[in-house]
Amino acid sequence: MTQQIESAAKPQGCAACSRNARHQQDFPIEWEGDHYVSRREMVKFLTLGSLLLAIANWATAFARKLVRRESSQVKLLGPARDLEQNGYMLFRYPSAESPCIAILTPERKLVAYSQVCTHLSCAVVYDRNENQIVCPCHRGVFDVNQGTPVAGPPTRALPRVRLEQRGDQIYATGWEA
Ligand code: FES
Repeated sequence: MTQQIESAAKPQGCAACSRNARHQQDFPIEWEGDHYVSRREMVKFLTLGSLLLAIANWATAFARKLVRRESSQVKLLGPARDLEQNGYMLFRYPSAESPCIAILTPERKLVAYSQVCTHLSCAVVYDRNENQIVCPCHRGVFDVNQGTPVAGPPTRALPRVRLEQRGDQIYATGWEA
């Protein structure tokens, strides 16, 4: 009688039981320890993820610096009188995809920067009245002599282009370090 009850409660070839046994074999972690493993896995994942992101960031910055250093070709921008007339001159350096701006300050200092804002990449312009470089997108302001941010959301300086005047012509000759 007892045997009959046991065999009724435990059907022969129980599919769920064999699935459970297989599951136990594949994942030999008890239910109580399960959330500890998950937490440990999470910490491991976050640590590795952060490390990978840091390495990728560093590699990108390094590659960018390397490309800048290599792209120190000389490029003719145009006659200095154009700059005298407008107070600034737009040009592309080192490639057609890289807009830049050359400025002749009221102190007659010649400076040039990438025109790409270091906040979210809008094009910066020269405000002659205020003698500063401004970004119209979020009112970022850069110092005209150094290219450093002085107001608004940008936190990094504009990359600076090295200029040379040869006779009446102005040339871009590379990036400042
Ligand atoms: S993109 Fe220049 S301030 Fe935001």
